[in-house]
Amino acid sequence: MTNAITLEDLCFGWSADKPVLDRCSLTMPKGEFWMLLGTNGSGKSTLLKLLVSLLVPQSGLLEVANPVGFVFQNPDHQLVMPTVGADVAFGLVEEKLSLPEVRKRVEEALTAVNLWHLRNRPIYALSGGQKQRIAIAGAIARHCELLLLDEPTALLDPDSQIELVRQVQSIVKRRGLSALWVTHRLEELEYCDGAVLLEHGRVTEQGDPKQVREKLLQKWAAV
Ligand SMILES: Nc1ncnc2c1ncn2[C@@H]1O[C@H](COP(=O)(O)OP(=O)(O)O)[C@@H](O)[C@H]1O
Ligand SMILES: [Mg+2]
Repeated sequence: MTNAITLEDLCFGWSADKPVLDRCSLTMPKGEFWMLLGTNGSGKSTLLKLLVSLLVPQSGLLEVANPVGFVFQNPDHQLVMPTVGADVAFGLVEEKLSLPEVRKRVEEALTAVNLWHLRNRPIYALSGGQKQRIAIAGAIARHCELLLLDEPTALLDPDSQIELVRQVQSIVKRRGLSALWVTHRLEELEYCDGAVLLEHGRVTEQGDPKQVREKLLQKWAAV
């Protein structure tokens, strides 16, 4: 499979009369960092939940590179163990690895997000940006091919915001992962390889982030 995500005519609605996704199509190549934009309620989080199989589409084709990792807007909804290292290891429980293999994965993942030195730190003592990086480390430890991030910077201050987006950009390039990042902050578009705009249940713009940004600014100026 050469694409990280392939969607063809995907349909989903919470109720029969009101589709959220209405024949939505999208192809995202492997090894790239893409961003997903759209107004509040346009279906971005719903689309991510379909991609990670938390929801099932009513019709259409959906193919993703597996395994998929998910990073929530609020890391406090995601991190469950008392310390950093234990949290990353917890995500590996289902894989039934040996203890040395678990240690190796945890070290590799925490090193990738530059937080190995905090492995024994309690989760509550971390900043919001560090918590998001732990959630990303959890996905790296599971050897995820595709990383989905739903407004991961929404609760961060501007410095941590840019640090996180840069780190995800560099992880995607160094490790050959693919990532789809939901945002409404246009300044973040500078760091991605491609951008997608979701409107009226469909992808209405897809491609070069600069062009998508221009189109968005034109649309907003016309309102
Ligand atoms: N659990 C749910 N039950 C019913 N409707 C929902 C649920 N989650 C979201 N919706 C509706 O689906 C639409 C898309 O929501 P969402 O995917 O959260 O949009 P976005 O992430 O782009 O803001 C909205 O109209 C929202 O009210
Ligand atoms: Mg959302």
